[in-house]
Amino acid sequence: MKILSGTALAASFEEELKREAVALTGQGIRPGLAVIQVGEEPATQTYVRSKVKTAERVGMHSVDHKLPATASQAELEALVDRLNRAPHINGVLCQMPLPPHLDGGRITRLIDPLKDVDCFHPYNMGLLALGEPRFLPCTPAGILELLTRYGIAVGGKHTVVLGRSNIVGRPLSILLSQKGWDATVTLCHSRSDGLVELARQADILVAALGQPEFVRAEMVKPGAVVIDVGVNRVADPTAKRGYRLCGDVDFAGVAPKASAITPVPGGVGPMTIAMLLRNTLVGVRLQHGLAEA
Ligand code: GUN
Repeated sequence: MKILSGTALAASFEEELKREAVALTGQGIRPGLAVIQVGEEPATQTYVRSKVKTAERVGMHSVDHKLPATASQAELEALVDRLNRAPHINGVLCQMPLPPHLDGGRITRLIDPLKDVDCFHPYNMGLLALGEPRFLPCTPAGILELLTRYGIAVGGKHTVVLGRSNIVGRPLSILLSQKGWDATVTLCHSRSDGLVELARQADILVAALGQPEFVRAEMVKPGAVVIDVGVNRVADPTAKRGYRLCGDVDFAGVAPKASAITPVPGGVGPMTIAMLLRNTLVGVRLQHGLAEA
């Protein structure tokens, strides 16, 4: 059984990203990423800190805009508008979910599609669905890079994706079914009939439901490749912070059965951030006419 380390792979990506960021900076274009965070949800704060820290590490400029949980839709939209116009900002993302009084859909549509490093804008999702993506959504792109760089072929293989979110499951299922990847894809959700049997047919099983340790050993075909997208905090009084992190896969039970598996943490997460920064460089190229918009 092979552990698919996102930490190790992301480190090598960071080297590549840094070289490119340094070269662009040398040409007078320092890549810049703006992250918007509304409220103080601890998990969101952790993600944002990682994004900003990694951006700095690869030589990009990054700004973290923190708005209070009471911020109005108008305030948030004014900030997005300002960042859309800021020439030194090449990527804009707004951490989701937003507090319930705010309209995330409107924000997603307001972010300049050329700065949409999350690839959440309907225009970019449309291009993706047509097989002509400008940006690739970060988590699906990170998973595809993990598979590629660890030499796991998906062509013709049955890939079962658990979870149909617009951030992970749905775009990943679209990409994997496209020419070049050529996987046979089954997209499931928590209400799929026969979920256990479907999962058990997977050569490659992707767990992206957001349910702690949902995938148990009996749901996995011997020798399957298991990709765990979940990051869940589970109360644990013996842990230092009072909780432990776990994925959507029961790692201890599933790992002995799998041919390869991603750990949590240190699997998909670091790759997601590396892909966000890769998208920021795509943004630079699009905005400076170095790539076709
Ligand atoms: N919330 C959880 N993951 C993400 C992400 O990748 N981007 C944004 N904007 N919000 C998230």
